[in-house]
This record gives sequence, C-alpha cells and structure tokens, in this order.
Amino acid sequence: MVLGLLKEYGNENRVALLPEAVQSLIGLKAEVLVEQQAGDSAFAPDAEYAEVGAKVVGRSEIFKRADVLLQIQPPAEEDLKTLKKSQVWISAFNPLWDTGLVKSFLEIGVTTFSLDSIPRTTRAQAMDILSSMATVAGYKAVLEAALRLPTFFPMFMTAAGTIRPANVLILGAGVAGLQAVATARKLGAQVYVFDVRSAVKEEVQSLGGRFVEVEGATEDKAAGGYAVEQTEEYKQKQQQAIDQQALKSNVIICTAQIPGRKAPMLVSKETVEKMKPGSVIVDLAASTGGNCELTINNQTISYEGVTIIGESNYPAQMSIDASRMFGKNVLNFMKLIIAEDGSLNLNFQDDIVKGTCITHQGEVYNERVKSVIDNIK
Ligand code: NAI
Repeated sequence: MVLGLLKEYGNENRVALLPEAVQSLIGLKAEVLVEQQAGDSAFAPDAEYAEVGAKVVGRSEIFKRADVLLQIQPPAEEDLKTLKKSQVWISAFNPLWDTGLVKSFLEIGVTTFSLDSIPRTTRAQAMDILSSMATVAGYKAVLEAALRLPTFFPMFMTAAGTIRPANVLILGAGVAGLQAVATARKLGAQVYVFDVRSAVKEEVQSLGGRFVEVEGATEDKAAGGYAVEQTEEYKQKQQQAIDQQALKSNVIICTAQIPGRKAPMLVSKETVEKMKPGSVIVDLAASTGGNCELTINNQTISYEGVTIIGESNYPAQMSIDASRMFGKNVLNFMKLIIAEDGSLNLNFQDDIVKGTCITHQGEVYNERVKSVIDNIK
C-alpha cells in the first residue's frame, strides 16, 4: 500500500504524521510518500522524513500514486476534482455537520474515513483524535484566558494586599472541559462546572471543580455517552443558573457540544452585558455556532469590556505535541487497515473500521451519518 501524507492548508500548523509515526508505518511494510514541506510548521523538515525512509514528493505525485491519502483538514475543492474512486481519503471532516462534503464524496465514489467518527469505545481509545485534540484545546483555552485576563488566577497574600482567586466557569465537562478544569485548578482558580450529563459530576469533583446541578436534564444512554438536545423548560432553568454564575465569573470556557447539531446557546448577550468588564470568554464550540450568543468563529471581539474568543483550532497552535498525539492515533488506526504484507485491508466486520468509514463505493457506511443524510434527502 502507498500512503500519501499531504501538507495542510492555511493556518493549520499540524501534520497528520511526524517522522516517528512514518517510521512505524514503514515498519508495517507501507510505502510512504510525503508532500514537500508537509511537516515544516510542526518543526519536522523534509530531511527527517527522508531519513526514516519516506519519499518526499510534490502534491500531484501523491494524488497520482497513493492508495491512501492522509491529512488532518478536509479536502479543498481542487482535491475533490483530483481524487479517484479507487483511492481512500482519511482526514477529520465532521461528516455529521458537513453533509455537503459527504455528498461530494458519494458522487466521486471514493472511500473515506473521518477520524472524528472513531467509536468512543475502550478498544478505540488509542485512536481517538477527538480526545487527544480536546485535551490540547482545553489546556490552551485556559492558558489563553489567563494571559488575557487583567487579574491573577491564583490567590495572593502580599504586602500590597490580598488578591482574590479568579472564578472560572466551565460549560461542558467532556474531554476539553475536564482538561480545562484541571488546568484552571493548577493555576489556582476557583472552578465551577455545568454539564447535562450527571455522570461527570464525580470527575469534576475529583479534579477540584464544583459541579453546579440543574435538575431535569435529559440523558439518553443510546447517545453513546454524548449529550442530547434538552427540553425548553430545562434550557430556561439552566440559562438562569448560568446567568447567576456568570456574574461572579472572571472567565468562561465554553466546550458544550452535541454531535451533528448546532452547539447549545448557553451564554446570552444579556448575560455578557451583566459580566464584569475585563472578563474573558473562550468559546471552543465556535465552529458549530458557539455556546455564547456573541461568538464569531475564528475571531476575537470585545463587547462591553468582555473579550470573547471564538478559537476553534487551538491544537494548531501546539503543532509538535498535537501532531505527535494525532500521528499516534492515526498509526493505531492504520494498524487495523494494513495487512501483514503491507497491503490495504478494509475489514468492515471490524466495528472501528466500519464506524469510521463514511463513504465506500457510493454508499454511506457510518450509521449516524447515514441517518442524517437520509433525513435531508
Ligand atoms: P463533546 O465535545 O461532544 O461535548 C462536550 C461536553 O458538553 C459533554 O460533556 C456534553 O455532555 C456537554 N454538553 C452538551 N450540551 C450541553 C448543555 N446544554 N449544557 C451543558 N453541557 C452540555 O464531548 P466529548 O468530550 O467528545 O465527550 C463525549 C463523551 O464521550 C463523554 O461521555 C466522554 O466521557 C466519552 N468519551 C469516551 C471515550 C472512550 O471511551 N474512548 C473517549 C473520550 C470520551
């Protein structure tokens, strides 16, 4: 099998495989082509890829020769024009959200895998890019808030007086939210957390955060551990509770998401208006609409003295470790689809291979994506 590692576009500084992961793939008898300068912004020069046995080539050669094409970001328009039915495209393209792209893949007939669709099971944990990247995002979000905040995070008792610790409110206690709790606590802040899933209460508490309960949340075991849409009554109650907590907060870190849907709106414009000037909101749900009504994706704005950061790709700002984690996840996934002799082996009996496969031979394979596509037909 020939695997082609592509260079990312735009502000993406990560690369899907660092040389260390490429070396392991070559050890699995895969031939690896690397696009020139693919690793530059993750500080992995072409020479390091060549040293571990990859061939460094131009993008067009990869599209011509590779059986499997790999990058982190979804394909650009030009890529879609060049992709062939016989090829396999692997990246993270949020198929539950970007259904237009799924339809383009179906028209081409190409086989695609979206790494953000890897099932959240114990066996798949070592391949779970959502968890790896959420870890980076939760950590970075808190550091960014701390840098922007005009007050300290920790409490200080000094000759110049006592400084009170910052109050940090975290919305959503999934992987990013829990990492944000841990990071904010390490910096000495007082941390309050909301989530609709009661199961996370203990995890929040074990990290030193205080879980704020709102009665009446809808939970659905069939959602695979994810949150589901809430009732109007619950939303109102939660809005009031968040409003009260927001007034006391210096920082809000928003991480609440529902797969395939617009992110829940949890911080209204009116709430922001009541917050202390100088406060900071970091909205990690920006790419799906944001948890704050005023968030603009990939922009930082100031509204009545409150800074609102709509950053949706913090992992790109930590290019080495984010690429290292991403690459390790990819490598573990590739082990499932590479046979002993190095050839491509797509075994759809394997629940991880089937669950991560979005399109194959003109059909949608992932069940959740299939139901979304069927609904909009
Ligand atoms: P996510 O990114 O989909 O959502 C973040 C958090 O926001 C979740 O905890 C969710 O409950 C919460 N949320 C959604 N709507 C909300 C609302 N209206 N108000 C407040 N909070 C709201 O979640 P993530 O981080 O992807 O984790 C999802 C699930 O997957 C979790 O149960 C996690 O424990 C599980 N998981 C399992 C893994 C495995 O077994 N391999 C690995 C990682 C996560």
